[in-house]
Amino acid sequence: MIIAVDGPAASGKGTLAKRLATHYGLAYLDTGRTYRAVALALMEDGVALDDGEAAVRAAGAIDLGALEAPALATAEVGEGASQVAVLPELRTVLVARQQGFAREAARAGRGAVLDGRDIGTVVLPDASVKLFITAEVEERARRRALELTGSEAGPAYERLLAALRSRDARDCGRASSPLRPAADAHILDTTHLDADAAFWLATRVVDEALAA
Ligand code: C5P
Repeated sequence: MIIAVDGPAASGKGTLAKRLATHYGLAYLDTGRTYRAVALALMEDGVALDDGEAAVRAAGAIDLGALEAPALATAEVGEGASQVAVLPELRTVLVARQQGFAREAARAGRGAVLDGRDIGTVVLPDASVKLFITAEVEERARRRALELTGSEAGPAYERLLAALRSRDARDCGRASSPLRPAADAHILDTTHLDADAAFWLATRVVDEALAA
């Protein structure tokens, strides 16, 4: 079983995807972390984020088993990831590596959950189940502000809202694999749902697909 989970930044797709992987005993890859790892490598080397050749070299050196580093989780690296993610030559390399991860899991007799922006449309168009997790941008900013500062309003909220709007615009507007739901994706709007409710709804979709 291959589950594709896509959606915009801070939609809760990562939390949901991880939980689905644990629940169904599947391998898990956060593909956003692969773009983040490339961005961090370029930033650490002082290389411009539009240097396609350097980005492709960095992508070849990523260890897919070591993407947990806290340095990859920062807002700056997320912003950098969104900038390198517009490079088509980088996407080609990372998509191949992400497909390889799913193939390896299948070879080991295990399915996989991959989350990102283009899993259902480009990376794994034949996935058994496709989920597109979204929420209104104000709600995503509120949740992120609460998580980072303990407060859901004020300057941090305003800053996060502006950052999410600009990341959404870049992720949806780029020429190469823009963020959009696959035609056969199940859309889950979590604006008015908590994490448990979203997980429950997602398992219903997956269980139905398994029973079909
Ligand atoms: O999901 P996360 O915030 O970690 O992703 C960082 C950035 O990487 C996104 O804003 C997006 O531009 C890019 N990305 C992508 N395709 C994916 C996963 C992430 O373009 N499959």
